[in-house]
Amino acid sequence: MILLDALIMWAHLVAASIWVGGSMFIGIVLAPLLKTISDSVEGRLAIMIRVGRKFNRIAIPSLLILIASGIYNSVNLFAKPSLFLSTNYGLVLVVKIILVIILIVTFAVHVRLIRSETERRIESGQLSSELLQKLRSKIIMLGRITVVVSVAILFTAALLHSGI
Ligand code: HEM
Repeated sequence: MILLDALIMWAHLVAASIWVGGSMFIGIVLAPLLKTISDSVEGRLAIMIRVGRKFNRIAIPSLLILIASGIYNSVNLFAKPSLFLSTNYGLVLVVKIILVIILIVTFAVHVRLIRSETERRIESGQLSSELLQKLRSKIIMLGRITVVVSVAILFTAALLHSGI
């Protein structure tokens, strides 16, 4: 049982590293770097969308693993739900779950924005520069929310770990 718990926590940690590390890399390293590579908004957006879609191939399984292994880690509380509101640990876990729900909603909107139809419309020049700018601002804003919420989730994980 101890080995199984350790393996599941390991999966949780690996998935958290992929999810948080990958989102931060895209937001902090790649996005600013693109400005120095291409002057056209279309070009930058097309690359960002491609990178985002490629990243999603590992990000989506990581998020699913985080949710499944997170539920396993919380099995004692799910078995006795009154603990969610009567202990500090339970309350922090409730905050963590709410943040994860916010993350999933933000991510779902993000995925919808970067679907292949959008990429085709950008590449065939069907979007006006005003629409392109709007799309770019939305993608940047959703990326920032994803990073901030992910880091906040890590803080709740630290609180849980400290045995609050
Ligand atoms: C983006 C999503 C998530 C991230 C980045 C994340 C991150 C982490 C990290 C880094 C730890 C390790 C803390 C330690 O050293 O103990 C952890 C532990 C844990 N996580 Fe998550 N997690 C996520 C989602 C979830 C979900 C959805 C749940 C519950 C439904 C959950 C429940 C837990 C629990 C109960 C622990 C054990 C804390 C302890 O008592 O030590 N996590 N999480």
